[in-house]
Amino acid sequence: MTSTVPRADAQELPTAGFERLAQAVDEAARAVAELEPSARQAAQSLREAIEAAHRVALTTIVRRLRADGTGRELLFELVDDPLVRMIFSLHGIIRADPAARARTVLDGVRPGLASHGGDVELDHVQDGVAYVRLSGACNGCSMSSVTMRTMVEQALVGQVAEITAVEVLPSQPGPTLIPLDALRRGGDTHPASHDAGWVRALRVEDVPDGRITAVRLTTATGGAQDVIVVRIDSQMTAYTDQCAHQGLPLGEALLDTAAATLTCPWHGFRYDALSGECISAPGVALEQLPLRVDGSDVWIRAGR
Ligand code: FES
Repeated sequence: MTSTVPRADAQELPTAGFERLAQAVDEAARAVAELEPSARQAAQSLREAIEAAHRVALTTIVRRLRADGTGRELLFELVDDPLVRMIFSLHGIIRADPAARARTVLDGVRPGLASHGGDVELDHVQDGVAYVRLSGACNGCSMSSVTMRTMVEQALVGQVAEITAVEVLPSQPGPTLIPLDALRRGGDTHPASHDAGWVRALRVEDVPDGRITAVRLTTATGGAQDVIVVRIDSQMTAYTDQCAHQGLPLGEALLDTAAATLTCPWHGFRYDALSGECISAPGVALEQLPLRVDGSDVWIRAGR
């Protein structure tokens, strides 16, 4: 059996926008999937060889740009372009962060949910499933909860490639006080000690003054959560390792200890290092996580 692979218009593609280019890739992929096995295998090998060459070349370009101040700024601007961002993600040059993108997508559906008297929060993303909590009128079993669940599901599955399903978690109980004793139980060993969501994350000696320390926590549910700890003098503050702008990591942010500010290395959003509030965009903030120092250990309450 032979199959005809449609050819995108060679005149059109060089100037096409993101959606048309993505559509052309999808069309070609669908056509290749219908080829007979040997032709499909050959097409697959060709694609892998071309991608490997592109990955090496792109990595070289990015390394060179990163090594130069002006080049770095240019690189950060380029990351804003959806096609560049997609290609960088595809080649592992920037971290694909489905949770950050999911939060951005949920911001887009929030006004629609509000019209039903509801709201939504992303709890976490794991194995392609987005776990969300609905609140307000949609947190229950009214007709509108079905509508809102559908809105959330369509938005997340439709717009975040890594998400294939959505699960609605029960609403959270109100905040409760956590007795200090719960943090003082002995015998646990770093780093997998969990208690009421608290994780023994680091030793105090591993958090240098005037630095940002990045750490990956293993949560009670076995998930991973990337966190940064900012230390200025004796004060330590923990944040989810995601800039509030585009969710990119902050491990290499610039920390100004005199002004107590933290500047995102990607597009320059500046934050109060002690509160997480954004100075560049009022009303925006880093997600701060509870942190306690107990003896020589730093405990952080994982958020998901
Ligand atoms: S990701 Fe854009 S400023 Fe941080």
